[in-house]
Amino acid sequence: MPQPQKIQRRAAGAQKESVRVLITGGRIQRRIQEMARQIRRDFPDEPLHLVSVLKGGVFFLTDLARSIAGEVSFDFIAVSSYGQGTRSSGQVRLTRDLDSSIEGKTVIVVEDILDTGMTLDYLLRLFQQRKPKHLRVAVLLDKPERRLTAVRAVLDKPERRLTAVRADYVGFTIPNEFVVGYGLDYAERYRNLPYVGVLLLGLGSKKKP
Ligand code: IMP
Ligand code: MG
Repeated sequence: MPQPQKIQRRAAGAQKESVRVLITGGRIQRRIQEMARQIRRDFPDEPLHLVSVLKGGVFFLTDLARSIAGEVSFDFIAVSSYGQGTRSSGQVRLTRDLDSSIEGKTVIVVEDILDTGMTLDYLLRLFQQRKPKHLRVAVLLDKPERRLTAVRAVLDKPERRLTAVRADYVGFTIPNEFVVGYGLDYAERYRNLPYVGVLLLGLGSKKKP
């Protein structure tokens, strides 16, 4: 496993960026082992169907799937959220559906990060209609502070029902900072880092989440 290090990059024409390590690859791997055991303890005898959200959740899914004992299958879905820049507008659109039905299956949704919660809110409503036997959520990272923003956004749009989105399995609770690595990107870059780090733009200033 390569040692995490502070990396610096300058994208063509862009300002200087760097990444400060927040969670090392070793800690991620140890936590995933624990989460895998916990999930299997909760469902000792059932085949588990992991559903991951492209692309951020792929590394988490592949590491988690290999750590869960017993029968495991998986599938992928992709969504895009409309909005200005990196901010989600709360309107989520399905861009790639699952390959197979989830009816009657014990489904674990595997997401990289729970931020405002709007993506998961959309997915959970969609999946619930498809009648799984159980529906659970595993996220590697949780930014609970950001859910407050989401509540405000929903209150501005009374036509949307307010649901409390929460994950059943959380790897790490993190502060309200923009993070990259281990699947998470900034403009499609940094996904391949084996650790999670805070993105710093320019002279050490953090990117606004
Ligand atoms: P939500 O719908 O606001 O919960 O956003 C979830 C999605 O936004 C995640 O699956 C990520 O793709 C993206 N996202 C949220 N926070 C971050 C971050 O700190 N770094 C990179 N991507 C993020
Ligand atoms: Mg994502």
